Amino acid sequence: MKQLVLVTGGTGYIGSHTAVELQQSGYDVVIVDNLSNSNIEVLDGIEKITGIRPAFEQFDLCDTDKVTSFFKSYSGLQAIIHFAAFKAVGESVEKPLMYYRNNLVSLMNLLQHMDQYQVPHLVFSSSCTVYGQPEELPVTEKAPILPAESPYGNTKQISEEIIRDTLKARPNLHSIALRYFNPIGAHPSALIGELPRGIPNNLVPFVTQTAAGLREELKVFGNDYPTPDGSAIRDYINVVDLARAHVVAIEHMLNNKQHRNFEFFNLGTGKGTSVLEIVKTFEKVTGVPLKYRIVGRRSGDIIQVWADTRLANEELGWKAERSLEETLLSAWNWEKHLRNITD
Ligand code: UD1
Repeated sequence: MKQLVLVTGGTGYIGSHTAVELQQSGYDVVIVDNLSNSNIEVLDGIEKITGIRPAFEQFDLCDTDKVTSFFKSYSGLQAIIHFAAFKAVGESVEKPLMYYRNNLVSLMNLLQHMDQYQVPHLVFSSSCTVYGQPEELPVTEKAPILPAESPYGNTKQISEEIIRDTLKARPNLHSIALRYFNPIGAHPSALIGELPRGIPNNLVPFVTQTAAGLREELKVFGNDYPTPDGSAIRDYINVVDLARAHVVAIEHMLNNKQHRNFEFFNLGTGKGTSVLEIVKTFEKVTGVPLKYRIVGRRSGDIIQVWADTRLANEELGWKAERSLEETLLSAWNWEKHLRNITD
């Protein structure tokens, strides 16, 4: 019998790609999402890719009664991948309580029900934001966790602490926190991808929307950083590579390969790329010229970060495989699909 995995936030960007990878690896998937930042049509995209429509339940994970009914009806759950959370840094500064309530209550509800209903395995979506600006690069999992720059970042730190403390008291539960660097790109089929609401905050959606003519120009935030070309550096990881890591994390736990019942891993490529390199590479692989202008630094931005990926490579046997070129092309193909752009 197929093993059943709950994907919370499964109609979102990383969640939908993970649902696809899980199905293609032989798992049954049930998605829970309140559709606060995603569309139901994402299920069609998943079904077109895999031939299987995942089970879907629309409710808010902060609603404890609904969570209880869900756990009662899906008794065969083996594992949970918890993506459902708010993630806009700026908004979290404006509405901190909304972020703390949504991101923390949903996690606590899940942990409580995992314990009650004997669902032993949890993969948690964390972020490299927990490291702030690390002193040493590439950043390893041993780097100190710095005070968070935003309520959003703080919810990731606090969530990791909630999991750690809960698992100390409940050794029967297991969890892996995956600290993502900068996920970009889309499924190669161009049937699912990122769907930012309103004006994108993140670099690559802004790049593709500018190339598609939706935005006047890309603003490059700063060219006076102490980096080779002066623009800020990040570790951009293909979303399918990232999704695949979640399947591997589930297998790591299901096969009892954990050394401790709470582990965390950096998920990146190990390579840093500057904003200007993203612009140049995008133009090269798509042939589309990108209008951009250098402006001042964005407040709260760090200078540079990229991952030391050895722990994930060695312990999980996972490695990012897709190149920046194919990843940026996949992001462009997805944007073209959304806007009905033909060559
Ligand atoms: C941002 C968040 C981070 C969050 C992540 C989720 C901030 C300060 N950080 O990370 O907490 O976990 O998104 O995906 O918001 N850039 C431009 N022009 C743009 C947009 C971005 O030059 O229009 C630059 C940024 O200054 C940065 C790089 O591109 O140097 C990447 O930006 P972004 O995609 O927003 O990611 P992060 O800032 O790394």
